[in-house]
Amino acid sequence: MVDRERHLMSLGRDGHGYKGAIGVGIVGAGVVTQAVHIPTLERLVDTFCIRSIYDPDVSKAQHVAGHLGIEASSDFEQLLADSSVEVVAILSPAAFHAGQALAAMQAGKKAVLVEKPLCQSVDEAERLAAAAIQTGAALLVGAMHAYDPAWIAAQSELPAASLSPTLIRSNIVLPPNGQFEACASEVFLTQERPAVTHSPEVLMRLHILELAVHDLPLVRRLLTDGVRPRVVMARILSPMGYAITLEAGDVLVELFAFIHEHWQTDWTLEATGRLAHLRLCFTPSFVSAGSGTMSLSRDGRVVRHDASPENGYFSEWREMARIVRGEKPPPDPNQHLADYRFVLDIAEQASSLLFNVGQ
Ligand SMILES: NC(=O)c1ccc[n+]([C@@H]2O[C@H](COP(=O)([O-])OP(=O)(O)OC[C@H]3O[C@@H](n4cnc5c(N)ncnc54)[C@H](O)[C@@H]3O)[C@@H](O)[C@H]2O)c1
Repeated sequence: MVDRERHLMSLGRDGHGYKGAIGVGIVGAGVVTQAVHIPTLERLVDTFCIRSIYDPDVSKAQHVAGHLGIEASSDFEQLLADSSVEVVAILSPAAFHAGQALAAMQAGKKAVLVEKPLCQSVDEAERLAAAAIQTGAALLVGAMHAYDPAWIAAQSELPAASLSPTLIRSNIVLPPNGQFEACASEVFLTQERPAVTHSPEVLMRLHILELAVHDLPLVRRLLTDGVRPRVVMARILSPMGYAITLEAGDVLVELFAFIHEHWQTDWTLEATGRLAHLRLCFTPSFVSAGSGTMSLSRDGRVVRHDASPENGYFSEWREMARIVRGEKPPPDPNQHLADYRFVLDIAEQASSLLFNVGQ
């Protein structure tokens, strides 16, 4: 039986989903909701049950709610007031993330998943971390590579490998999102996004906060804790992308992204030390093509993690279930804060380097 039918049946049976299923409220009914989170939650129908969805675009909210066999919430406050909503997924544009996540935590929800980027300023990130600590709500950030089984495998192998990287390279070569959005999902409503022209400095900041953000928390964990990045080179690539070089203590970090017009994809993160080498290959965003792969070589021995069926989106929601059920502690909110500071620092330095060149 297809997952959507199972979802509708689970709702229809007793109106409450599978016994013990965790109630989810979704904020924002756009592409990431339709192409990523709903298909993922529909595969986890025994664990989660979508109770409510809110989008200020009422017809879009109703259309997506209709697909799920539920009613759309007429406003955000109604979604928060729904006691069957235990977990809130904030999948709206970044400008709304902090305010909505704070409101959800203060409304007593057990957990909040905020799509990347977490928020728009360090002040907001500090308030989110403080609210998570004060309310005890679990705060998860939808940077899916942090949950990818390949990265989880790397983290358990790294301490023994004493990698001490000298060079870290993040390489993201992708077709435009639209190509994967269109074929990776059952998008119920397609939406033409208006073409917006940004200055190179604004574009650089957006590229870091929206795309590089997927791998920068991983890069930070490969560095010595607390080391501050210093961006030494930043370029915007045409038609879309960036090339950035930075120094972090003794480590050279290269960040490269190129969005082109063909189908070739390559999403890799490599870290090379004097005696060991780590290589992670990820599947592109939106597609449900399983996890990434990992290889860690040292002393002629290679430890591998082959692709597993669960991708990062799937394991992010599985992790959410373990946390809500008390089987695992929530992530440390201060790590989210440190990740956000790291990402924003790079974004601002890279952006101001471009600004200086353009002056
Ligand atoms: N993890 C990933 O792979 C991934 C992929 C794409 C997007 N994202 C992130 O997901 C978020 C949404 O991106 P998208 O591609 O779905 O954008 P989108 O433009 O397709 O959808 C955003 C939706 O939010 C709605 N919205 C606007 N204001 C709102 C508000 N105040 N409250 C609730 N909803 C509101 C809009 O009407 C729209 O339906 C962004 O933060 C983006 O960076 C993550």
